[in-house]
Amino acid sequence: MNYAEAEKRLKSCGQEHVLAYWKKLNKTEQTALLQQIATIDPKSVKYCQSALAKGAEVPDSSKGRAPKVAVLKGRKLAEAIAAGEKELKAGRVAALLVAGGQGSRLGYDGPKGCYSIGPVTGAPLFYFHARKILARTIRYGRAIPFYVMTSEANNAATVKCFEENDYFGLNPDDVFFFTQGMWPGMDRDGRIILDAPGHVFMSPDGHGGLIAALKRSGALDDMKKRGIKSVFFFQVDNPLVEIADPAFIGYHILNKSEYSLKLCAKRDPKEKVGVPMQFGPTFRMVEYTEMTDEQCNRRGKDGQLYFLYGSPAIHVFDRAFLQREAGKAMPLHLAFKKIPYVDAKGQVVKPAEPNGYKFEKFIFDILPNAKVAAFLAFDQKDEFSPVKNAEGGDSPATCKADMQAKWKRWLAEAGVEVKGDLPIEIDPAYAVDAADLRRWGLCLGAD
Ligand code: UD1
Repeated sequence: MNYAEAEKRLKSCGQEHVLAYWKKLNKTEQTALLQQIATIDPKSVKYCQSALAKGAEVPDSSKGRAPKVAVLKGRKLAEAIAAGEKELKAGRVAALLVAGGQGSRLGYDGPKGCYSIGPVTGAPLFYFHARKILARTIRYGRAIPFYVMTSEANNAATVKCFEENDYFGLNPDDVFFFTQGMWPGMDRDGRIILDAPGHVFMSPDGHGGLIAALKRSGALDDMKKRGIKSVFFFQVDNPLVEIADPAFIGYHILNKSEYSLKLCAKRDPKEKVGVPMQFGPTFRMVEYTEMTDEQCNRRGKDGQLYFLYGSPAIHVFDRAFLQREAGKAMPLHLAFKKIPYVDAKGQVVKPAEPNGYKFEKFIFDILPNAKVAAFLAFDQKDEFSPVKNAEGGDSPATCKADMQAKWKRWLAEAGVEVKGDLPIEIDPAYAVDAADLRRWGLCLGAD
């Protein structure tokens, strides 16, 4: 893109000020700015401006009802597992990880997936995800292609982490990295913010950017070519997640669902998780920030929370549903943040108060579009312990303790008692459940 093309593009969406300092930039800075402008789509700019004009209105959730959530046991559970295993053996299942976030709450600089979490080995989060996929690949004899969404900021470091660790044992041909989009930040008047005279402030477009990125990168086509039907979605921060769990895949298939969600009972009424609610025939995720105190604390006759189930962001999508959604615009969520900007004198200012907006899309906003949605309950202690904060709840300390407690339960089931605080860690490729431990020659001398 040359200067004239850049100017034309910016004019078409009223953003000519982005070139205001052009003459003060050196050649390298000019080239970099043109490259940035080339990524800014005038249609997206206008879309952000219209979202800004509407404001950060919160949709009314007062009429929301708790959805019907299945708890699988006995024969129903066996049937779901059998249906899921059939899909896995036929090679119709993919894993999809969103790992483009910035991990700012954790205070970690690199990609969150590189964060060390193994209680004994110090292995990174990516290790646990990849080794679980490897385990199921070995068990079912078919590859589970692994699609990893990164952002511009962390893509190179993510790929390097996989390369340096030999893809954690996975076949590199079955691992597909793709980057999500970036959107410019805007001030209250819908003007793009420059955070340096030759640089536009950009931020990742949210995990909902996934759908457009899947299409743009060719990942959706790749899935189709491989005959994928079910896409298991998960977040990078939760090493307890049971990736491509046959019961969940099977439940999704048996229900002919387009979008299935695993849900767990909230640990406290105000837990910071999204809650799916039913509105007439459709469903929508209501974020914890959008729920009233009354909704959070409402109880049924049995004394249980009415909105008992929260979402750990573990989903299964029908691939064709993702394909259908890829052609549609998603709603935008506004985040009002402190964004560095260039003042009238050309000086960079770091504001003390929020001054501009970031725009994000959320993957669960496609839930109302699913022709069939299904909800499956599971036990939080077995599958959800995210690493979000540096300390306190949902921190590395609580996550490591939960990982070890789970392995201890497996060992106990396999007849092995772990005494005291002996640190333990089990490679997921060695065992993905207690039954595996038993199968593998009854480790540690159990009979
Ligand atoms: C999220 C969910 C919440 C759910 C909770 C479970 C939202 C708005 N809320 O909260 O409903 O109950 O997880 O843990 O998502 N990511 C990207 N690109 C981005 C932004 C995020 O790939 O631009 C990825 C992150 O790497 C991470 C995941 O999305 O894997 C979640 O992001 P995060 O910001 O941590 O979500 P939460 O606010 O914790």
